[in-house]
Formats: sequence, C-alpha cells, structure tokens
Amino acid sequence: MKIIHSLFFILFVTLFLIINYGSDDRNVVNARDMAIQQPAEKSVQIVTACDGRKKVIAEGCYEGEVMPETKARQVAQLLMSLMEFCEDEITAKLPESESTIYVSVNGLPFERVRDIEELPLILVHGDKPHPERQQRIWKAEMDRLIAEGYELFHDPALGGNGVSCDMCHPDASNTHPETYPKYQTQTGKVALLRDMINWCIQNPLEGAVLADDDLRMKALETYIISTRSGKTLEPGKH
Ligand code: HEC
Repeated sequence: MKIIHSLFFILFVTLFLIINYGSDDRNVVNARDMAIQQPAEKSVQIVTACDGRKKVIAEGCYEGEVMPETKARQVAQLLMSLMEFCEDEITAKLPESESTIYVSVNGLPFERVRDIEELPLILVHGDKPHPERQQRIWKAEMDRLIAEGYELFHDPALGGNGVSCDMCHPDASNTHPETYPKYQTQTGKVALLRDMINWCIQNPLEGAVLADDDLRMKALETYIISTRSGKTLEPGKH
C-alpha cells in the first residue's frame, strides 16, 4: 500500500511540474497581452469636435481604445451640445465614475456642472450672428476660389491639345454638379463630380488628372457648383 501511495505521490508531483513548466510560456504571453490591454499608466481619451475648438476628455479610457457605446454616445452628445457655443474654445472633462461634468471655457479654469442641460447657464452664449467683417472675409475667399476655377475652366493649359472645358460646356452648362454622386457609364462606377472633371481632363483635353487635394481641382469644383447655386441637390439623378 505504501508503495502505491508513494507512486501516486511521485506521479502527482511530476504532473504538477509538467503542467507548471509547460504553462510558463502561456503565462508570459498572458502577461504581455494584459500589458497591452491595460497599460500601467492610466490614460485619458481626448475626442475633438469637427470645429477643432471643442474637446471632451473621457477619463478612464485609454487613448486609441474603442469606447463602450454608452460612453461614446455620451461623448458625442456632449460635443454636440458644446457646438452651440460656436466661437468658443471649450474643453469638457467626463470623470470615470461620477456623473458630474467639468467644463473649461476659453482657457478659464474647469467648472463643475451637473449635466449637459445645465451648460448654457454657465457659458457665455455663442448664439450670435457671425460678425460682418468675418462674413466678408469668408465671401472674399469663396469668390477668389470661384474666380480661379473660372480661369482654369477657360484655360487650355489644363490639357495638352488646346481644348478647354468651356468649349463644350459654355458657362459650365451640362455639368450638372447637383446630380453627383451618381453612376457613370464612362467610368463603370459611382462617380463624384471630381471624377468626371478628371475624366474630361484626361479625354477631350488629353491632360493629366488632378489629385484630390490639388487646389486646381478644388477651384474647378467650386466654380462649377457655384454656377448651379440655388438648384436642389438630387444625387443619383441623371
Ligand atoms: C469635347 C467636349 C468636352 C470638353 C472639352 C469637356 N467636356 Fe465635360 N463632358 C463632355 C461630354 C460629351 C460629357 C458627357 C455628358 C454625359 O455624360 O451626358 C461631359 C461630361 C462632363 C461632366 C458631367 C456632366 C453630367 O451631366 O454629369 C462634367 C462635370 C464635365 N464634363 C466637366 C468638364 C470639365 C471640368 C472640363 C474641362 C476640364 C470638360 N468637361 C471638358 C464634353 C466635354
């Protein structure tokens, strides 16, 4: 009996050693995975609104982490409320555990608010028309781009054979920018207005296509669209 007991004991110890030794690698991997999922230093996720002036600091989230849906919605909703204060630089802080929100307006110290609804009470409201001077600057910039587009539209230099856009599209006629995006048989896929501009540069003008971020493309699009201002948008309509 004693021998059997001893044998069982040895078998047990051996098995224990094998399991522990064999799982060493696994432990290392697990530790590494955990290090990736939970960096030692607690971080925050900073989400910026489309105007670049409003930010939400979500505490308890790690930068680059996909936030849980409720958190993401809370952040989005808060950013949208902040957007009401058009010109102001606003940073809101969402602490991990409390429902309180802290808000800093135009660099002033953070103030505590109970919920989003309360925000307008403490903020200098930005719901005012844009100053006239600012509007004039915006219009001048727009007019400049339209004028540049007009020049290009009438300039054979855009192509290589002396032909220019206006020769077939006087006053940008038959360009129908308001119908884009739409399926184009020429390209065999849904095209954006810029795709058709490039198509005509490459074909009747025998020129080189313009990159998406090329200022000349922006100018051409702006000019073409400006000729149809007031038209109802009907994407997909031929
Ligand atoms: C030789 C004549 C010719 C020239 C030059 C020309 N196009 Fe076109 N363009 C056409 C034709 C033909 C079509 C096809 C119309 C259609 O698909 O029904 C067209 C289509 C277009 C469309 C799409 C119109 C629509 O109804 O969706 C745009 C936008 C356009 N051209 C812009 C330009 C631009 C910008 C230039 C100059 C870079 C240019 N075109 C030069 C003949 C020309």
